[in-house]
Amino acid sequence: SAGTIVDDGTVTLTRFMIEEAMKSKTPGQEDMVRLISSISVACKRIASMVQTAGISGSTGLAEGGGSVNVQGEEQKKLDVISNDVLKSALRPSGKLGVIASEEEDNPVVVDELYSGEYVATFDPLDGSSNIDAAISTGTIFGVFKAPEECLIGDSDNLSIAEQQCLEATLQPGTNLVAAGYCMYSSSTILVLTTGDGLNGFTLDPSIGEFILTHPNIQIPSRGKIYSMNEANYFDWDPKLQTYVDNLKKAEGQTGEKYSSRYIGSMVGDVHRTLLYGGIFAYPGDKKNVNGKLRLLYEAAPMSLIFEQAGGKSITGPGGRVLDLVPDKVHQRCPVFIGSPDDVDEVEKALA
Ligand code: AHG
Ligand code: MN
Ligand code: MN
Ligand code: MN
Repeated sequence: SAGTIVDDGTVTLTRFMIEEAMKSKTPGQEDMVRLISSISVACKRIASMVQTAGISGSTGLAEGGGSVNVQGEEQKKLDVISNDVLKSALRPSGKLGVIASEEEDNPVVVDELYSGEYVATFDPLDGSSNIDAAISTGTIFGVFKAPEECLIGDSDNLSIAEQQCLEATLQPGTNLVAAGYCMYSSSTILVLTTGDGLNGFTLDPSIGEFILTHPNIQIPSRGKIYSMNEANYFDWDPKLQTYVDNLKKAEGQTGEKYSSRYIGSMVGDVHRTLLYGGIFAYPGDKKNVNGKLRLLYEAAPMSLIFEQAGGKSITGPGGRVLDLVPDKVHQRCPVFIGSPDDVDEVEKALA
């Protein structure tokens, strides 16, 4: 009859966040709703740009190959564009003091008009070397509470506030209050935690909404896939070489032969690991003792995500990624992340 509310059961990201905020006891959750919805708007805009990159001429290198980021990488046009999209989508949230990004030399102080309670770290476009071949890419983000002294509006000397805010980004992963990624692949999937479980949302382009499709994600306790760039094999620790050799010879703990999958976009490789189980690693090696992945906006957010799903993430024997306190914004760390039994096995092999 007229007037009855038809609830077809689809839970949008916005509805989910509001229900979470009502359930949770911690104050300030409504701020988190505004922040996460700003991030999801940026991800939708990046998704649509990535899907049509070849048409709008936004493939290829930025400035004809002239621009190199602080990592020493040649920036793709979409690295720069997605970084700008994130910054402009986050400013009006009114909730951010500082944004640290792979594509910014130093953390960016958000307009002092909006002195915000949060600090966010971003990899605006992860796996961007794959973008010209239309292979999966993604956006990774982490959110910290900003310490008091970082509230820009409270101090008239911006340079001091900026310095303090740079420090505000150097927090260990255990301080993360939210983390997530958006994967741009055969479907666009946002995976998110605000500290109380892990949930996945698939973008329905016909209504422009993220719909809850992966409630309460739990990683399998063990998988049968290992994911690492074996081109670096001869530079690895011999103990790691033995661990991988055993997986190939069906002489690991399970006595089963593992398969290998590696696409070179962390978001794609870890999303498969999260849903299918197994292990992803970017180990240190003779040439790069800390490996390649950056702690603040790749390893730490992904580690919170995996731990929320019952997974594990270590830098090596006895080193939990989330405990690592950064001393530089762009510092790198080795990462072994995945099913608990697989991470335990590699940890034992490396000890
Ligand atoms: P980004 O594109 O954000 O710079 O990250 C690339 C990273 C990560 O996505 C991926 O796992 C890794 O680089 C692949 O590195 P290799 O090509 O050395 O395997
Ligand atoms: Mn890069
Ligand atoms: Mn990356
Ligand atoms: Mn990137």
